[in-house]
Amino acid sequence: MPWVTGPTVRERQTGPVDLTKTHAWRSLEQHAATVERLDLRQLFGTDPDRVDRMTHSCGDMTVDWSKHLLTPAIVDDLLALAAQSELAAKIAAMMRGDRINTTEDRAVLHTALRAPLDTAVMVDGADVMPAVRAVLDRMATFSERVRTGDWLGATGRPVDTVVNIGIGGSDLGPVMAYEALAAFRHPRLECRFVSNVDGSDLVAALADLDPATTLFVISSKTFTTQETLANARSARAWLTGALGDDAVATHFAAVSTNTAEVASFGIDTDNMFGFWDWVGGRYSLDSAIGLSLMIAIGAAGFREMLAGFRTVDEHFASAPLSENVPALLGLIAVWYRTFCGLQSRAILPYSRALHRFPAYLQQLDMESNGKRVRLNGDPVSYETGPVIWGEPGTNGQHSFHQLLHQGTTVVPADFIVFAAPDHRTGAFVGIEAHHDLLVANCLAQSEALAFGKNAAEVAETEPDPTLVSHRTFPGNRPSTTIMAPALTPSLLGQLVALYEHHVFTQGVVWGINSFDQWGVELGKSLATAMIPELTADAAPELAHDASTNALIERYRSMRRR
Ligand code: F6P
Repeated sequence: MPWVTGPTVRERQTGPVDLTKTHAWRSLEQHAATVERLDLRQLFGTDPDRVDRMTHSCGDMTVDWSKHLLTPAIVDDLLALAAQSELAAKIAAMMRGDRINTTEDRAVLHTALRAPLDTAVMVDGADVMPAVRAVLDRMATFSERVRTGDWLGATGRPVDTVVNIGIGGSDLGPVMAYEALAAFRHPRLECRFVSNVDGSDLVAALADLDPATTLFVISSKTFTTQETLANARSARAWLTGALGDDAVATHFAAVSTNTAEVASFGIDTDNMFGFWDWVGGRYSLDSAIGLSLMIAIGAAGFREMLAGFRTVDEHFASAPLSENVPALLGLIAVWYRTFCGLQSRAILPYSRALHRFPAYLQQLDMESNGKRVRLNGDPVSYETGPVIWGEPGTNGQHSFHQLLHQGTTVVPADFIVFAAPDHRTGAFVGIEAHHDLLVANCLAQSEALAFGKNAAEVAETEPDPTLVSHRTFPGNRPSTTIMAPALTPSLLGQLVALYEHHVFTQGVVWGINSFDQWGVELGKSLATAMIPELTADAAPELAHDASTNALIERYRSMRRR
């Protein structure tokens, strides 16, 4: 039964379909009980079609999921779960603007930001696409003025540095993409990203900048986020201290859904770029939150990235589940987390340019699926979102890969690798060879993880029998490999959309709301209430727990308050 406007009446009353009662769920539990007996050498050896069957294209990406602890029967059960969770209908519901974020009563329409510009996407009876187009066009005009040097600061000089101030989704996406697309940046312009309320972040970012050539982009969906506003206020003081109050007009732009707060902060709303409550923070890279990125790579590059997103959106909306790559990757994640009990997942881009990608995915995945109740508020009876972590290869090989290969826990890994290097090669003799080394390492890691080296193989070359077990690699450590021709703006959009939709798939199977983030609220309000207790001249009356009271007192004493 498709969702018409968010959850069906049945789901409102009884919660999402309880998949734990299905045959597929019970069957997967049984498969998981014997998963340790699965042997990838044997699965590959007895099935010559395995790689063909378990490799799919999604846009320009080739995704090899053959090195997973999966049999055809497990895959069938996972696909049955997807069907019984009404995944296809829920994809359609999300993309047509139903209010699937039920706890905040919002549509979830990041796909509209990259929808074909001539389509209509309706929210509350109104087509949102004219507004999407208008913001994109304004962003393009503004970016072009900054890029060409036509946008002048208070002293008549063009901008050479853009400082994006934002946190969470208002930082992680833009900085990740800015780093990823380094090869496509404007050569004269630099972007810096300030997120942490730790003053060191802003101080370091501004240390060598000239206020006269600095443009601040204050990025905050709500424009009420404590850290962002504290940084924005200090940035404004730094600027006006040097150039006077009037300089704010040409040195500050804002990206937000909250026009009133932007105006009350003192930023000219002509320099404000809006978006909408139906764009979640962690899904907002392709909204106006990408303004600093657009300044760096240009409007054409940004539109190319949006086209990449769109390619994967269309795939997710139309490919049958058995060939639907984001859905398959989401189901594999459910298999390991919920049925095999694996707690974490490593994201291993063999691309320095993607060095912020694991951090970006941490928010995307863990803020979306770090949930313990289902859509109707009932507690889940199974494990949900995993811990996401990672580092680029080959650096990780010389630190944590030891645990991946020989530790007592199994960590499914995603390898991401490109056929072409993403750096310029011009002045460096022999730098081309680095890329073959990089790719060899990537492919060798997934091979070693999957197939290991057994004791008999070790003994062939190890004369000391006491070392054989130390040098044995158990294998059967699962991974996905995503390979693509090159890291372009389009490819980056494809990659992000792939992960967005695999997060969605997991949330649907788990019956949770992947689009709220109430878990961040308690700490925020406690911190706000605590500030006067830390700063008051007179010793405050403290009513926290004994540990927190003591820590507050210790801090006050160290600060001589
Ligand atoms: O951490 C909670 C959160 O609301 C994130 O979801 C969001 O990306 C971040 O804070 C920043 O919020 P804003 O863009 O409103 O400043």
